[in-house]
Order: sequence, then C-alpha cells, then structure tokens
Amino acid sequence: MKNYILAPSLLSADFSNLGNAINLIEEKKAGFVHIDVMDGMFVPQISYGQPVVKSLRPLTDLIFDVHLMIEHPENHIKSFAESGADYITFHYEASENPDSVIDLIHSFDKKAGISIKPKTQVSAIEKYLANVELVLVMTVEPGFGGQKIISECVDKVKELVELRKKLNLDFKISVDGGVNENTIQSVIDAGSDVIVSGSAFFSGRL
Ligand code: DX5
Ligand code: ZN
Repeated sequence: MKNYILAPSLLSADFSNLGNAINLIEEKKAGFVHIDVMDGMFVPQISYGQPVVKSLRPLTDLIFDVHLMIEHPENHIKSFAESGADYITFHYEASENPDSVIDLIHSFDKKAGISIKPKTQVSAIEKYLANVELVLVMTVEPGFGGQKIISECVDKVKELVELRKKLNLDFKISVDGGVNENTIQSVIDAGSDVIVSGSAFFSGRL
C-alpha cells in the first residue's frame, strides 16, 4: 500500500485545549498539522490566525500545513511565514495573480500550495504546477468541517497524478474534506500523498 501523510485539521479540535490536540496528533504519528484559516469573506466563518499559529509553534516539530481560506492571501503570507508555517496553501479562486503569491511564499523559504474548490477544474491550475510543492484538492465546499465528501472531486487526484507524471513534476497531492473511515480508502487509491481529516480524526474514527 502506498504511504500517505495524515494531516489532522485543528478545525475539529477543542479550541480551549489546542496543546492537547497537538499531543494527540503526535501520538497518532500524523505528519502534518493542518491549520484552517478562515476570514469570514472567502468562506462564511472566521476561525483563527497568526497568533494561534505562533503560540502552537514551540509545542511541536510537526509540519504546519496552513490552509488559507482568505481573500487577498498576498497580504498575509509574510505574517504566516513568520508565525511558523511550513506549507502555505492559498486558494486559486481567491487570487488575482497566483504566480506572485507562490513567489512570495518561496521568498520566505516556505513551501507553496495551491488549492481548488470543488467546482474548479484541474486545468485552471495546470500552469502553476511546476512552481508549487503541494496541490490541495477540496472534496467539500470550503468553510466547514464534518461535511460529506463529493466523490467526483476525488477524480481530480487521479488527474493530478497523471499530469505530475506527464510533466515530470514532484508536488504533493493533498485531499481535504469528508475523509473518514469509510471514504479514506478511495482517496488513498486515487493516489493522495497528504490526507486531511478533521471531524473523523478528532472523534477517534481515524
Ligand atoms: C474545510 C476545511 C477542512 C476541514 C475538514 O473547509 O478546509 O480542513 O477541517 O474537515 P472534515 O475532515 O471534517 O471534512
Ligand atoms: Zn483545510
């Protein structure tokens, strides 16, 4: 079986005890901590931001996989980089100039990720693939944990695996949304490298 990195999403953790959530992620041997940042504009809710990332940073050496669900991501790359993010992923749909956001992330020596919502096709981001370290395929509409996976979106992972091979690239493919004990096999089989899980992980089902 292909190895994958589990990336528990803090969005489903107990916000009154995030240190405990980090301990649990370490105990379960997950590789990434997936940190969902929401601005109340790109998505309806507001979650947490740079001060939370900064206060968690001293607690662990785990890789911080920051998922920016925010408008104007270019305004916040520096502060997330300085707060301790390792990967910074922004939304293709939220950016007028993805190339410049990617370059900005790289200028702080961080790994760049680009994410697409369920209705955005892989072809829209093809020209950026050579320049990113991660592609985040949303398998639910971004904004909330605990939704049901849109299984057609899993086919985008297969498409990206093919494209990566064809173009001889090496970005990681990550899947986010609705992954639980019943759906994880389908995202593994599709070829995901990083698997995000919020509600299933923090309710002990994964
Ligand atoms: C949704 C977030 C996800 C979310 C996943 O907008 O990007 O990372 O926490 O939650 P589950 O695994 O419960 O679908
Ligand atoms: Zn996420």
